[in-house]
Amino acid sequence: MKKIALLLVAALLCSLGAAAQDKPIIKVETQGVQLVFKVGDNGRLYQSYLGKRLTHEADLKHLPKGTEAYITHGMEDYFESALEVEHSDHNSSTELKYVSHEVTTQADGATLTTITLADDVYPTSVKLRFAAYADQDIIVESTEITNGEKKPVVLRQYASSMLHMRRSHYYLTEYSGDWANEVNMSQTELNFGKKVLDSKLGSRASMFMPSFFQVALDAPATETTGDVLVGTLAWTGNYRFCLEVDQHNALRVVSGINPYFSAYTLKAGEKFTTPDFIFTLSDAGRGKAARNFHTWARNYRLKDGNGNRMTLLNNWEATYFDFNEEKLVNLMDDAVKLGVDLFLLDDGWFGNKYPRSSDHQGLGDWQETEGKLPHKVGYLCQKAKEKGVKFGIWIEPEMVNPKSELYENHKDWVIHLPNRKEYYFRNQLVLDLSNPKVQDHVFGVVDRLLTDYPEIAFFKWDCNSPITNIYSPYLKEQQTHLYVDYVRGLYKVLDRIKAKYPNVPMMLCSGGSGRIDYEALRYFTEFWPSDNTDPVERLYIQWGYSNVYPVKAQCAHVTTWNRGADIKFRMDVASMGKMGLDIKCTDMKPEEVEFCHDAVMNYNRMKPVILDGDQYRLVSPYEGNHASTMFVSPDKAKAVVFAFDVNPRYAERTYPVKLQGLDPNREYRVKETNLRGDKYWFNGRTYSGDYLMTVGLELFSNRRGLTSHVIELE
Ligand code: GLA
Repeated sequence: MKKIALLLVAALLCSLGAAAQDKPIIKVETQGVQLVFKVGDNGRLYQSYLGKRLTHEADLKHLPKGTEAYITHGMEDYFESALEVEHSDHNSSTELKYVSHEVTTQADGATLTTITLADDVYPTSVKLRFAAYADQDIIVESTEITNGEKKPVVLRQYASSMLHMRRSHYYLTEYSGDWANEVNMSQTELNFGKKVLDSKLGSRASMFMPSFFQVALDAPATETTGDVLVGTLAWTGNYRFCLEVDQHNALRVVSGINPYFSAYTLKAGEKFTTPDFIFTLSDAGRGKAARNFHTWARNYRLKDGNGNRMTLLNNWEATYFDFNEEKLVNLMDDAVKLGVDLFLLDDGWFGNKYPRSSDHQGLGDWQETEGKLPHKVGYLCQKAKEKGVKFGIWIEPEMVNPKSELYENHKDWVIHLPNRKEYYFRNQLVLDLSNPKVQDHVFGVVDRLLTDYPEIAFFKWDCNSPITNIYSPYLKEQQTHLYVDYVRGLYKVLDRIKAKYPNVPMMLCSGGSGRIDYEALRYFTEFWPSDNTDPVERLYIQWGYSNVYPVKAQCAHVTTWNRGADIKFRMDVASMGKMGLDIKCTDMKPEEVEFCHDAVMNYNRMKPVILDGDQYRLVSPYEGNHASTMFVSPDKAKAVVFAFDVNPRYAERTYPVKLQGLDPNREYRVKETNLRGDKYWFNGRTYSGDYLMTVGLELFSNRRGLTSHVIELE
């Protein structure tokens, strides 16, 4: 009785609260975007508007009430819900009413709006949080769900975000693929029903699709025109976007952790905080949306987003597992010849009972293989130092080969089904990061290396298997927590590393693009977009990722995957990202080595514009036989333009490419760089920004396949 009376008083206070504030209009806004909420007569919260920011504040009152903002399971809605809570009495209905809201300023300067909602039958409350980054038109949304009951409740659906749109047409662009064939862009019109983009791969969650999408509203968007919503989930695990069109042609986008096999029990008084859903809305096409993400990421999210990035030489494709100290030291000499900053030792340096001579064994045993590296990693660090390059190292600390001492000694640390035959992805299994002892082990891999060899200046952190054989020996009766607690365990490890070694750059690798998201990128300075380094494929892959991730975070390496592309074409493609090489100088002609060295020097000069400037994607490789991208320094004083003939046709007509993002009233001198063979006839000329953007330059030719040019504008 007492409990019911208390609930009634609480409910009364809630509704009085709403009434007393005279039904607030809650605005989440950036310079260009506005998300408006209203409270209905029934006390519930409605998303009244999401679109271009309205000029006149007074107009907000004309906006319709809209659709319930964060729809709950069990009530009158017939479509996808954002929240499903099974209360302790097994009743799964929740109805949320507005309680209060507050606006504060976050430590990073974003304006944080927190809206508190509560059920008046059950003590379940929800906080919707929106951090608005004014200058980049980025909104970061997350949800906190609190179990106020005296007994546990089960969360069956717990979205980070629910957004509503009411437009005439919706065109979804997804980015699907597979290993070495990542982020293929394709567009579908959304009609009645659901389109679900999701992953249940666990650790290597984005192997088939990274966790982002675009929806063009009313009409398909281009690079420079159209309204487009772009969203991504910052979660290094299973994600799900459900885009559902209802009988009124209204779209709802429900984003969050994939609820698949992830019912999550909250004990009395516990809270569940969802990952961030990050989105922008552009009224000028995909290009602006992408730049919003890039600038926001560099300033607020990407590890060392405004810092420098090192060029490197990796030994993976040069040696695979077949190396010894001498070969590695020779490759360090190549690093010196090529002029890069760092030498990166890849897979194959560890394991003694089961030396890591192939991907079949040794993973988990992080001691140097005595036969291969008798003088250990310290010797390599010393040699690198003598040669004036930095030293980096590959690890894959979340994984284990069944043929390893780690597996033999700690089977209880391995995610595996105790009563079934194991099956393997790349001959390995995933360690159970929900277990704090495993977290200590994974942290220990990095900690041991950096304690023994403080000279290590870079890590490549790999993750080559999805979570397979799904059963946690640690979680016992709470198996459906594994996918979530795995990721939380990973963040605990990464937090410890960041706290103890705040300045060590790390590459997020997962057999290529298997794991990329904006939560992981708080800890990683860059990611490995694909094992496919064929420069033609890379034009597409780098284009795909640049819809959400800045090129500063995209590693782009020159290798021998080349499909007939010469060294210039390969260096030019790699110069559009965070450049590295994975090649042996002995496989190249001296003239090619010299070219690479000069191109690395040119890259060092252009790096501030490419990595920290604004990216304008001028001609998409998806649209024909050529591609072009340019980068402009924030003050518009400098720019770098890349142009590629990929598959020019005989006697094909080509047209001038109009540049973007320049100052129309400035004069720019065109200077071609990375020269090898043909150069543009207009090399050395000076043009106004207006001319370059209105008339353009003849960047393409129909003479022969696979040619490339890089020009600097000053
Ligand atoms: C993954 C990575 C590669 C390389 C190998 C080593 O496939 O993507 O770059 O590091 O692992 O086994």
